[in-house]
Amino acid sequence: MDVIFSGIQPSGDLTLGNYLGALKNFIPFQDKAECFYCIVNQHAITVPQDPKLLHERTRNLAALYIAAGLDPKKATIFVQSEVPEHALLGWMMICSAYVGEMERMTQYKSKAQKQEKKNGFIPLGLLTYPPLMAADILLYQATFVPVGDDQRQHMEITRDLAERFNRKYGEVFTLPEMWAPEGGARVMSLQEPTKKMSKSDDNEWATIHMLDEPDVITKKIKRAVTDSIGHVHYDKENQPGVSNLMSIHSAFSGKNFEEIEKMYEGQGYGVFKKDLIDLIVDQMSPILSRYKELMGSPELDSILDEGAAKAHARASITYNKAIHAMGL
Ligand code: ADP
Ligand code: NA
Repeated sequence: MDVIFSGIQPSGDLTLGNYLGALKNFIPFQDKAECFYCIVNQHAITVPQDPKLLHERTRNLAALYIAAGLDPKKATIFVQSEVPEHALLGWMMICSAYVGEMERMTQYKSKAQKQEKKNGFIPLGLLTYPPLMAADILLYQATFVPVGDDQRQHMEITRDLAERFNRKYGEVFTLPEMWAPEGGARVMSLQEPTKKMSKSDDNEWATIHMLDEPDVITKKIKRAVTDSIGHVHYDKENQPGVSNLMSIHSAFSGKNFEEIEKMYEGQGYGVFKKDLIDLIVDQMSPILSRYKELMGSPELDSILDEGAAKAHARASITYNKAIHAMGL
């Protein structure tokens, strides 16, 4: 049976990018594979975090996983720091990695630059982020990792590190494959559509959050940048804003770009945007109401306790194999 692992950082309010690129795709696997879905709070602390806020966001993200459709009876839902093997194997993977290959990672380069500008220093954790992510995945011997397109390079380095380890110390790790959706793998900013939509964007108009109320979603889509060309056409080069909205439409409606172009032939962006708002609101508002219900229930703590226990049982098997292979 396939084993699925994925995680999201509790580093801000989840966006439509996180939903379409990752969380939405977690759900179908729970009926056909063994699933481990993690809230990766140790990745979040690779940049400075406010402790109280981080704690709250960790809990909120667990509720959001469930509100989005994850069933704790079918999938193991847990917090990374509650399973110590993540940090422990993370160290082994750090020791298998090279400084040069880490410095070449595009996420490192962009986040390092941002942090240096903002705080005047580059946290070392940003450099060692990929080996920790490799450990997360390899601990469960995952076969598939559902993530957005921005994680492609991290998935490659995960496979490289696993292969390098296996070659040197014997076959310990399964080589995981990335699983990216056809639509929504890279949702772009609504204001600067050449940049990915990110939960850490400071411009509130750039990002739709999973928990935005319908009227907020409406305002944000209405304000989303388009162009003066005036027809709904997929062309990332010349119409990046419209193309991004089309890929969001496609992810929600299941229609391909050609079908969407046909639907709005001869019409301006107004009708298209109105339909898009309806599509988003229809799918997101049940999640919003389930989320509100869950937040008030004490269930969440026991779900996370049980999740951590199940994850730990599995992770410790792989971890023990790895340290024995390394001579520790
Ligand atoms: P962020 O980059 O928003 O801080 P994370 O690093 O926690 O989010 O990533 C969580 C998951 O969301 C990953 O699988 C990532 O690929 C996916 N993801 C993040 N942003 C986008 C986006 N704009 N489009 C598609 N998927 C995304
Ligand atoms: Na990311």
